[in-house]
Amino acid sequence: MSDELRQRADEIRGLFREWFGAEPEVTVQAPGRVNLIGEHTDYNDGFVFPMAIERSIMICGRRRNDARLVMHQPAMASMHGSTAEASLEDIVKDPKHRWANYILGVARELLKLGCSLCGAELVIAGNVPIGSGLSSSAAIEVATATFFEALCGLEIAPKEVALLCQRAENQFVGVNCGIMDMFISTLGHEGHALMIDCRSLEYTQVPFDDPDVHVVVADTGVRRGLVSSEYNVRRAECEQGARLIGKALGKPVAALRDVCGAGFRRVEAELADPVRKRCRHVVTENERVVQSVAALEAGDWRCFGRLLNESHVSLRDDYEVSCDALNLMTDLLRQQDGVLGARMTGAGFGGCAIGVFRGVDDPAVQATCAHVAARYRERTGVEPSLFPTRAAAGAGVVRTET
Ligand code: GLA
Repeated sequence: MSDELRQRADEIRGLFREWFGAEPEVTVQAPGRVNLIGEHTDYNDGFVFPMAIERSIMICGRRRNDARLVMHQPAMASMHGSTAEASLEDIVKDPKHRWANYILGVARELLKLGCSLCGAELVIAGNVPIGSGLSSSAAIEVATATFFEALCGLEIAPKEVALLCQRAENQFVGVNCGIMDMFISTLGHEGHALMIDCRSLEYTQVPFDDPDVHVVVADTGVRRGLVSSEYNVRRAECEQGARLIGKALGKPVAALRDVCGAGFRRVEAELADPVRKRCRHVVTENERVVQSVAALEAGDWRCFGRLLNESHVSLRDDYEVSCDALNLMTDLLRQQDGVLGARMTGAGFGGCAIGVFRGVDDPAVQATCAHVAARYRERTGVEPSLFPTRAAAGAGVVRTET
């Protein structure tokens, strides 16, 4: 475990003592993520290739003798933080503390699975920026599941954890996301990116630990007002596309995952825009994921970088989920020394881009981050946030000496 993680664990435990006046029993963490490639493919049963980042959500807490949850969030509501309370016997949405709903949704799913939960006092904190497309919500959900597993001695298979967290987000929080974010937050391995088949949920840990390669996360500072409505529109367009392609090919197409490049080209003239463009993105993006993993396995970094750039173009022009801020950020990243490729990451409409660099040392990467931040600020007047990250571990208990 890194010193940084241990230090943050000490901090959150200190916050718990201050707020609840007692020792916490358990501390857990679950990371945010960037998706290296494979965007808007997860809900089309396709392939994604994310990695966990060195930023995470932490929860620490202890058992209560009753069925109440007392949840404290020190970062919110300016100086005073905010505290939410609920009963495990009657879990309903908390309209005032939206952050608490991620925790409550997961508790509800655990109960639905028949897990026996105890009440708890907990503190939640973290350094995954909220709403910037680095999956802070999945990290909260996975941290919650991990917390209850540790506190109540549950044993749940990691895939099941990812699935129950997705159900919490879909059904309780009410956001119609795919499986990628929860899956990587649960199953990430240090030094690896994770290729996931979102249909079978089979996955491959792909080494991503070349000391000479750096991933830079570039938060545009632009937040995504459109994201959930447009996300749902894209999902519907994809479903419609799958139906139409199935008809044109004369065989059932359960999801766009079932369409290969050649099959798509045979029938694309029969589709009207924007559905045609949306389908083209998904079909080609799935191919790019497979090619990216093969490129990495062959050590072909140039090819990997080219595929990242192509993915961005496809998201910008065909899927139309990029925006000026993301296009500017990826352009700036691509102008820097040592860059292999750059693309938007996550749902889009703001949030983060990534740049992958090779052959530049740590200080040079830091200098690149500062330089790109300055250029971006000059052009937009918005303060971005850029930081390098390694592929981090998935969720787990943070062991602390007591
Ligand atoms: C969001 C969703 C994911 C995925 C991406 C786009 O992050 O939560 O499930 O669909 O958008 O790739």
